[in-house]
Amino acid sequence: MARAVLRWAETRVQLLVDGICAISVTPHGYKCEEHELQTDDGYILNMQRIPEGRAGGSMGGQKKQPVLIQHDGITGFMNSPEQNLPMILADNGFDVWISNNRGTQFSRKHVSLDPAPPEYWDWSWVELVTYDLPAVFGFVFNHTGQKIHYIGHSLGSLIALTSFSEGHQADQGKSATFLCPIAYLSHLKTKLVLLAAKAFVGDILKMFGMAEFNPKGPEVAAFLKILCANPGLNCYDLVSEISGKNCCLNSSTIGFFLQHEPQSTATKNLVHLAQNGVINKYDYGRDGNLKHYGQAKPAVYNISNIPRDLPIFISHGGLDPLSDVEDVGLLLDLLKLHDVSKLSVQFLKSYAHLDFIMAVNANGFVYNQIVQFFRNQH
Ligand SMILES: *[C@@H]1O[C@H](CO)[C@@H](O)[C@H](O)[C@H]1NC(C)=O
Ligand SMILES: *[C@@H]1O[C@H](CO)[C@@H](O)[C@H](O)[C@H]1NC(C)=O
Ligand SMILES: *[C@@H]1O[C@H](CO)[C@@H](O)[C@H](O)[C@H]1NC(C)=O
Repeated sequence: MARAVLRWAETRVQLLVDGICAISVTPHGYKCEEHELQTDDGYILNMQRIPEGRAGGSMGGQKKQPVLIQHDGITGFMNSPEQNLPMILADNGFDVWISNNRGTQFSRKHVSLDPAPPEYWDWSWVELVTYDLPAVFGFVFNHTGQKIHYIGHSLGSLIALTSFSEGHQADQGKSATFLCPIAYLSHLKTKLVLLAAKAFVGDILKMFGMAEFNPKGPEVAAFLKILCANPGLNCYDLVSEISGKNCCLNSSTIGFFLQHEPQSTATKNLVHLAQNGVINKYDYGRDGNLKHYGQAKPAVYNISNIPRDLPIFISHGGLDPLSDVEDVGLLLDLLKLHDVSKLSVQFLKSYAHLDFIMAVNANGFVYNQIVQFFRNQH
């Protein structure tokens, strides 16, 4: 075990030096490109591109369709090529792009700010909608000249749902796939996350300041220790305590996963997520809102405004405490006027939050369905 931990620790350092391509993609026989792009507010984001499958390039002269995957970069590469979503897509003839949000380990640069000061962490998911998403969409669109199939997991779905509802990326998106979508978070089922959320709407900013929330840092460890003193919590198995009873993860890769995930985010982002009884801009409280927005309440996003002819595929799980079944129901209700032929919903009773990106059998249950969904869009 000690040797394995050492090996993972070495891989972690190596990853930061060499990048996702060199460590997790090219060893499996795929071409892989590292890219950097800049957002309008100065953050420098890291992307990977797998331009073709192992068999090579040609698609009978046809241009490959680009797919943009938004989850924590490394999580898509935990298993074998036959089990990893980005590689399956590449092998099926797609041009695959993977983006990494600001603040995660691969996207920590800024034109003028260090990741240390609070200014660097003064953002919530609204900034991901306003700056990161347009930057990555624009970048892929410019490189490929083609409309993009988008795939978002968890937070990656919230930011795209919001962005599409504001009419952005309408001319660049070909379809949208939402795995474990989070929009409303009013029925969160895990006690630990609920307790954390309560702390977050309370005065967590006083504890952490406007700073990095690094799940592997000492401040978060101290915070968890306080939460874990609550009866009925199993903090020895934090993965299940937070993401649910994942049915189908490979126990021999979970250590590697824990070395890298969950990734840092802004404390302000978590505070904002904890406010998501409705989907609105960050709520600073009455006075703060007047100062920031000139009105007492933050503006509400209307998810029903997503273009009704946008092809959407939603897949969610019965054991997912974060993308809870009732909350997904609320989301589907907002999409009830969507063109029925353009909306497909898949429900996997035995899947929890991480199964959708890491399960050993997600290829058969989810990824082949995604490939089929893309093919149906010609
Ligand atoms: C895409 O290309 C256009 C035209 O060359 C350019 O104005 C724009 O800044 C580019 N956008 C991105 C995100 O690279
Ligand atoms: C789990 O991972 C190990 C090590 O990578 C591999 O040998 C094994 O085949 C995997 N199991 C499944 C069910 O994919
Ligand atoms: C949201 O948008 C839908 C569709 O455009 C519209 O019917 C509805 O009235 C809007 N809801 C609110 C609260 O503005």
